[in-house]
Amino acid sequence: MTVLVTGGAGYIGSHTCVELLNDGHEIVVIDNFSNSHPESLKRVKEITGKTFHTYPIDLLDKEGLERIFLEYEITSVVHFAGLKAVGESVSEPLWYYRNNVIGTIILCEVMKRNNVKNLVFSSSATVYGEPDAVPIPEGSLLKTTNPYGRTKHMIEEILRDLHVADPDWSIALLRYFNPIGAHESGKIGEAPQGTPNNLLPYISQVAVGQLDELKVFGNDYETQDGTGVRDYIHVVDLSIGHVKALVKVKNEKGVHTYNLGTGRGYSVLEMVKAFEKASGQQISYTILGRRPGDIPVCFADTRKAFEELGWRAERGINEMCADAWRWQWRNPEGYPSIETDKQTSLEKESTKFFVPPKQEKVLNE
Ligand code: NAD
Ligand code: UFG
Repeated sequence: MTVLVTGGAGYIGSHTCVELLNDGHEIVVIDNFSNSHPESLKRVKEITGKTFHTYPIDLLDKEGLERIFLEYEITSVVHFAGLKAVGESVSEPLWYYRNNVIGTIILCEVMKRNNVKNLVFSSSATVYGEPDAVPIPEGSLLKTTNPYGRTKHMIEEILRDLHVADPDWSIALLRYFNPIGAHESGKIGEAPQGTPNNLLPYISQVAVGQLDELKVFGNDYETQDGTGVRDYIHVVDLSIGHVKALVKVKNEKGVHTYNLGTGRGYSVLEMVKAFEKASGQQISYTILGRRPGDIPVCFADTRKAFEELGWRAERGINEMCADAWRWQWRNPEGYPSIETDKQTSLEKESTKFFVPPKQEKVLNE
């Protein structure tokens, strides 16, 4: 009885691995490490005192996935693997559609072949585009504005069609708002490659001295201080939401859609203040014009997740900033460099490539 976690080495995946292990699940992880480092999974083991195997497999590698399903008695899949940078998706749409949409189709084909039909999928509040009203309930109109968002919307539709064709499928579509923060241990957190696109990692890197100053994108929105408002959610709360969603899909077949947010919005300048308070560091900033594609305000209606999953976010903005800061100052460069350490860590940390002879035979038939 094993949960397959795709993209488990990433930011949200690694935190969810911790919560799944703490909840008593056995897990196996696949990740192609295109945006992560195996060190995160080593640290998941340190935090939990539990062990599991990781395989450097790409979602597009159907045979590799098949081997995992043959090797393990997989009952459910928590599917994080995907590319997530909005700007990059605009310049590289084919890459995004191939990786995210085709990758998910291949995963579902392999699941279907192996009669595994429980799936928790990482969707995003980006599927709402610019909302007509806030807080945003799950039934709002979906109107994505970029290729990344469209991959999430398309995958949601594909998964709904899958359930129509075979009601045995049980699927949770989790629409995340703005995940921030880190595990309280300071051992795992968000480690963006290059200059961060998102607000909190940017602020953290200014605080630790990696970047000079924050650029605030617009102060002429119709909000309390003119800057954009978002629903920031602690990544640990978000991860616990996945554990609850897994129970739901196991107990009740269907397609279950949930917003995972706090229901409360904070402006950019409120976040700057909260981070200054948590870190004791001053965050320098300048105001620039609006970032193309940004929306003024976005926060979740969270009632459905509470009513149906018994889940609500517990951690407030101070805890989010304090945990993000602990992770940042303890790991100013993120995880050790991917180029130099990846292979060693892979070898050391029970991460293995394998082709068991029996399964190989089955695959060749
Ligand atoms: P992340 O980049 O840290 O994690 C994604 C992981 O998937 C990485 O480890 C990456 O190496 C892996 N991956 C990507 N393509 C793969 C492939 N083809 N095969 C195998 N592994 C692959 O991102 P995250 O922030 O942890 O996000 C996890 C999921 O949640 C993504 O699907 C993302 O779109 C979604 N999401 C994230 C946010 C956010 O703000 N972080 C918001 C909404 C939704
Ligand atoms: N912002 C700045 N300066 C920065 C970065 C961001 O002022 O350097 C502002 C933005 O203009 C926005 C707010 O901070 O008002 C939050 O921006 P983020 O980039 O952190 O987050 P977004 O809400 O724009 O988007 C994120 C993810 C999307 C996802 C969405 C909803 O990047 O992929 O949350 O989950 F879809």
